[in-house]
Amino acid sequence: MTAKLGLTSIRTTGDKIEIVNQLLLPHATEFIEIKSVEDAHEAIKSMKIRGAPAIASLAALAFAADLARASKSSAEFVSSPESVRKYVEDKLAYLYTARPTAVNLGAATRRLTATLESSIAAGKDGQAICADLIAEAHKVDAEDVGRNKKMSQWGGEWLVDHVKQNGGSGNELNLLTVCNTGSLATSGYGTALGLITYLHETGKLATAYFTQTTPYHQGSRLTALELQTLEIPSVMICDTMVGSLFQHHNIHAVVVGADRIAKNGDTANKIGTYNAAVIAARHKIPFIVVAPISTVDLAVADGSGIPIEQRPAIEACLVRGALYPSDGESKQAVVMITPPGLKGIYNPSFDVTPAELITAIVTEKGVATRRPGELVFDLSNVV
Ligand code: MRU
Repeated sequence: MTAKLGLTSIRTTGDKIEIVNQLLLPHATEFIEIKSVEDAHEAIKSMKIRGAPAIASLAALAFAADLARASKSSAEFVSSPESVRKYVEDKLAYLYTARPTAVNLGAATRRLTATLESSIAAGKDGQAICADLIAEAHKVDAEDVGRNKKMSQWGGEWLVDHVKQNGGSGNELNLLTVCNTGSLATSGYGTALGLITYLHETGKLATAYFTQTTPYHQGSRLTALELQTLEIPSVMICDTMVGSLFQHHNIHAVVVGADRIAKNGDTANKIGTYNAAVIAARHKIPFIVVAPISTVDLAVADGSGIPIEQRPAIEACLVRGALYPSDGESKQAVVMITPPGLKGIYNPSFDVTPAELITAIVTEKGVATRRPGELVFDLSNVV
């Protein structure tokens, strides 16, 4: 099957960085120029760009562009490694604060800090240190697509075998996914949606089911658009329909991405993922997490140590979309679905699925499963 071209979250032309404003998708495609690390920080915080790998890519690219400008415009700035260090540390620390749960952003800033330290230790001058940092930052973005394709293939092949071992044909697979993990959430191809795309390309997929993923609607606005663009057969369900879907349809696996995976395999992902995992366990449906190594945080022992971002209450009161029936002109509407002034709104952006509910964790290095009888993962072979 010929692969269809996916959507783009970040577009670069020379030094110019632009992102698609995901708050306006799927009804309007508007590119916004990111001219500084402050612009990148704002775009990530306000979720104009979202998805753990995509925000790390944008942060790295914005940092690289900023450093290139600063090193060209000020001879004094590059005159000493220490002045470069101060500048770089401040910028990275600032970018790191944009969103707390997705650890890929932290992994990118740590990776750039390590580059800074090794270039300084190698006795390089300010200009050479900046060049090393800019090259490394570009790699953060450039590596993403290749590793997504790798983990999608690992995970897809593993799932087909797993289904066969359990008496199925390994063909005509029906999968459920949550949130958006495709090319809009990464630098291309995607993680969980990448696995779905891989199965589609290899003729093994019947239908991709996806939840609407309230309150931001990553499913109904973004995953729907991606699956439509890729011409992958799909069915949308409301978040409340997961149990019903499992009762009435033959679902072979739930496949999700991750924002942070603790050392024991506990996984933070979009709110609603834990619900799907609990119901999948009841129905003995395999639950698969697909994420790059940069999502694994070995410094966090288990899910209790993962910081969970609380989004502003107002975001749970609003629905973004287009007017219906369309007036033919306006492409955007933001509608309030609660009484004005409603107090008491719970709006965590992520939940944590305990390792014991996860069947497999897939990275670009391979597939990890739990040893029989164990409730946690040993991730050492996949990081
Ligand atoms: O709040 P978001 O939209 O950034 O959350 C995104 C998710 O939870 C994704 O599943 C995760 O980042 C993996 S994206 C490949």
